[in-house]
Order: sequence, then structure tokens, then C-alpha cells
Amino acid sequence: METGVISIRNLWKRFGALQVLKGIDLDIQSGETIVILGRSGVGKSVLLKHIIGIAKPDEGSVLVNGINISALYGHRLYLSVRDMGMLFQGGALFDSMNVEENASFYLKEHGNRETEKRYAKSEIEDRVAEALKMVGLEGTQKKMPSDLSGGMRKRAALARLIVYRPKILLYDEPTTGLDPITAMQINELIVKTQKELKATSVVVTHDIISSLVVGDRLALIKDGQIAYVSDPDNFLNIQDPIIEFFRKIIGQDPRSFRTV
Ligand SMILES: Nc1ncnc2c1ncn2[C@@H]1O[C@H](COP(=O)(O)OP(=O)(O)OP(=O)(O)O)[C@@H](O)[C@H]1O
Ligand SMILES: [Mg+2]
Repeated sequence: METGVISIRNLWKRFGALQVLKGIDLDIQSGETIVILGRSGVGKSVLLKHIIGIAKPDEGSVLVNGINISALYGHRLYLSVRDMGMLFQGGALFDSMNVEENASFYLKEHGNRETEKRYAKSEIEDRVAEALKMVGLEGTQKKMPSDLSGGMRKRAALARLIVYRPKILLYDEPTTGLDPITAMQINELIVKTQKELKATSVVVTHDIISSLVVGDRLALIKDGQIAYVSDPDNFLNIQDPIIEFFRKIIGQDPRSFRTV
């Protein structure tokens, strides 16, 4: 099998008595958007944290550009994952910082990854303004997170991610908790960002509609393993109760869900 930009090999993770991941194998190719679906609690967020190296497996490894980041810590880990950015579940912003300070955080923290130099203040301002425009939040620089709606907070968190122009983007539940129209705007932003940055994206969600908008391939986690991974058309044809449910969501009158 061809090795991906990200190769997940036989990944196992347990928390106390709870065996969450039971041998995850997955290769993610350069430039693709792969969606990881699965029911609440199956370990989707845990898997993403392993991909960015903040969680360590009990067994197995995650290779990023051929480097086993599961074995790295501290500065060596940072050097291997600094081309990655993650939108955390809940889209957490720093509450005490305004939108501009939030969005410029990684730029200030890391500086220019190619030249290792700090960015000039004006360049940071320009890039933040550009990113805010891209997510439809122009002019909100001085607003505090508490003054934003949930959807705006998610978009601000997305701006913070894209301002840094990562080559690999990880999204944890980017549309959860949003109204369907705002969710669709976020989906479109994910596609747009992917195209603009020519990035590789991993989107974790339980939203099948969102998956079909953004995904080149869809994977389902079940019982701690990748049960299936394939292109959307074949994925939707798989005989499995969860995928049967997805088919219903996509294709049917919601009243058909009623059983009594
Ligand atoms: N640091 C931790 N310590 C103990 N248990 C944990 C830890 N992180 C995750 N878990 C447990 O691992 C399981 C998987 O968690 P995870 O957050 O990955 O689920 P998920 O698939 O992302 O669910 P959701 O769709 O609800 O976000 C859960 O039972 C969770 O309680
Ligand atoms: Mg989660």
C-alpha cells in the first residue's frame, strides 16, 4: 500500500479499563480531505490528538511525512507537527483575548516557519484581516469571544487556524451545534481553505451531510477500528446499520424516522 502523508499504523489506546482504539490503520494521502465518522465516544477526538502528537498510543504509531511522531516529545515533536493545525472540538478561543489577538496567536508564537523570523506587526495585521475576511468576519478584530455567537466563534477559530497556513488541517466536529445554514457555510469554508492552502485535511464529524460536502473519502470508526474507508458513493452503499441510518438522513422524509 502507498504510504500517505499521514500513516496510522495499528494504533491502540486505553484509558483505565476502557479500550478506546483497537488497532487503527489508515493512510491519508497528500491533498485529500478524509472524513472520519463514528458515534459519540468511539474515539474520534482521541484519534485526532494522536495525529497531532498530543496523545501517545499504548501501541502502534502515527507517521507524518514518514516521521514517527508518536515517539517524539517537546521541541522535536513541535518541529515535526508545526505544519499541522487543529480546530478543536468546541472551537475554543482564548476568552481573555479579542478576535485579532486570538487569530494572530500562532503567528506570533511560531514566527515564519520558513525563515524562522518573527513577523512584522503590519504583516500580522494584514494576514489576520485577510483570514477574517475569508471566514466572513471582517471588521471584528476588536470583539471579544463573549460578544460573538457560537457560529462566529467557530469561524474565528477557523480564521486562527488558516492564518497560519498549515499544510495539514485537522478539524474536530467543525459543524456541531450550528444551525444548518451556518454549518453549510463552515463546510464551504473547509473546502475553500483546502483548495487555497493545497492542504491535506482530516475532518472528524458525525454529520453525514457535512461529510458529503467536504470529503474525498469517508471512514467509519466502529469498535475501535476503521470499519470501512472509501469514496463517498461506495461508502453509502455499504451494508451496515450506521450507514443505513446515514442513507435515511440523506434521502428521506424526516417523518419516516417515526416508529410509533
Ligand atoms: N484523557 C482521557 N482520559 C480518560 N478517558 C478519556 C480521555 N480522553 C478520552 N477519553 C474517553 O475515550 C472515549 C473516546 O473519547 P473521544 O473524545 O475520542 O470520543 P469522540 O468519538 O470524539 O466522541 P464525540 O463524538 O462525542 O466527540 C470516551 O469514552 C472518553 O471518555
Ligand atoms: Mg469528539
